[in-house]
Amino acid sequence: MPQRPYVIDQMISAKAIAARIEALSHEIEVEFSDTDKLVVVGLLRGSFVFIADLVREIDLPVEVDFLEASSYGNAMESSREVRILKDLRSPIEGRDVLVVEDIVDTGHTLHHVTGLLRSRNPRRLKTIALLDKPSRREAPFRADWIGFEIPDEFVVGYGIDFAQRNRNLPFIGKVRFTEAE
Ligand code: IMP
Ligand code: MG
Repeated sequence: MPQRPYVIDQMISAKAIAARIEALSHEIEVEFSDTDKLVVVGLLRGSFVFIADLVREIDLPVEVDFLEASSYGNAMESSREVRILKDLRSPIEGRDVLVVEDIVDTGHTLHHVTGLLRSRNPRRLKTIALLDKPSRREAPFRADWIGFEIPDEFVVGYGIDFAQRNRNLPFIGKVRFTEAE
């Protein structure tokens, strides 16, 4: 199916993202100041740019792991069922864990993923999401840290895609269709 034409309007600049990550990294350092090693878990694929920038700002010993949960596929609507497509490489029992996500939308993904990870008895489990769309929430979930609260718009860039495109934009932009459906 050919892609309906769209343009991307910048919503959050690369500079604003960097400044926010620096501020958040200090809060994370305080929260985990007593850790021997923090396991930073990125949710694939949307968090890959965010986690790369975030870990370079965190002045603590860190380990990086990834988990992939089923996503939208190529659609703009979330499915309620969450499946684990790729699990962590390492056990997290007794560990300090920070889960890193790109966007909290309906909340189903993080509700499910944090439930699963908590069942493995980490010492501490915290979550950070770059973006939050609180108006879209269906499942009970609140991240411990949020980069930016945004309205109900479909966004791309900084790792986030629309049908696998636009992940490489250095900023966050919103999708605006230029032709009627
Ligand atoms: P949730 O389970 O509905 O909270 O979905 C979260 C996931 O949906 C995110 O990790 C994204 O992969 C995807 N998602 C939600 N909103 C957007 C968006 O505006 N653009 C691209 N992906 C999105
Ligand atoms: Mg995602």
